[in-house]
Amino acid sequence: MVEKLGCTGPCGDVVEFGCGYGTFTLPAARAVTGRVFALDIEPELVAATTRKAREAGLANVTGVVRDFLADGCGLPDGSAGYAILFNILHVEDPVSLLREARRVLAPGGTAGVIHWRTDVETPRGPPLPIRPTADRCRTWGEAAGLEFVRTESLCCCSWHWGLVLRRPG
Ligand SMILES: C[S@@+](CC[C@H](N)C(=O)[O-])C[C@H]1O[C@@H](n2cnc3c(N)ncnc32)[C@H](O)[C@@H]1O
Repeated sequence: MVEKLGCTGPCGDVVEFGCGYGTFTLPAARAVTGRVFALDIEPELVAATTRKAREAGLANVTGVVRDFLADGCGLPDGSAGYAILFNILHVEDPVSLLREARRVLAPGGTAGVIHWRTDVETPRGPPLPIRPTADRCRTWGEAAGLEFVRTESLCCCSWHWGLVLRRPG
């Protein structure tokens, strides 16, 4: 899933907004040659993610405890090549979060979005009324200054859709 959404090879450093238990952090760290900054507001989730990375022998993961909605991600402007926004755009102010992703991405950098589908029953995920569709996330991304690249059906996963956005070069 990570690689299908372009988080692979020499895409640059990666900022993951909301790493949770590191479900996607470790595959991203394996897939890219740069560093992965795994951010979450919950200290125990960041600790779990960094521990898993260490145990997996992945030296390119840096866990950061941070409220990125209140304080931004803390990384310099234009310093990342890829922003992971997986299962996070149901937050209260998604456009501000996408603006922060745009800020930290270098021109031409990519933002990958996934979220739980609304058209099938799923085993987990937030309540249906707050799940955004890919179209809505595209609109929010464009409002934040990102451009649409493509949607991904993610046939490897029955419960999510994928979307690729880019910071204009
Ligand atoms: C639904 S989980 C998704 C986790 C992971 N991306 C995944 O798909 O497995 C959302 C994560 O974002 C984190 N989060 C929510 N609001 C946040 C904020 N303002 N700052 C940092 N992390 C936040 C939560 O603690 C949670 O771990």
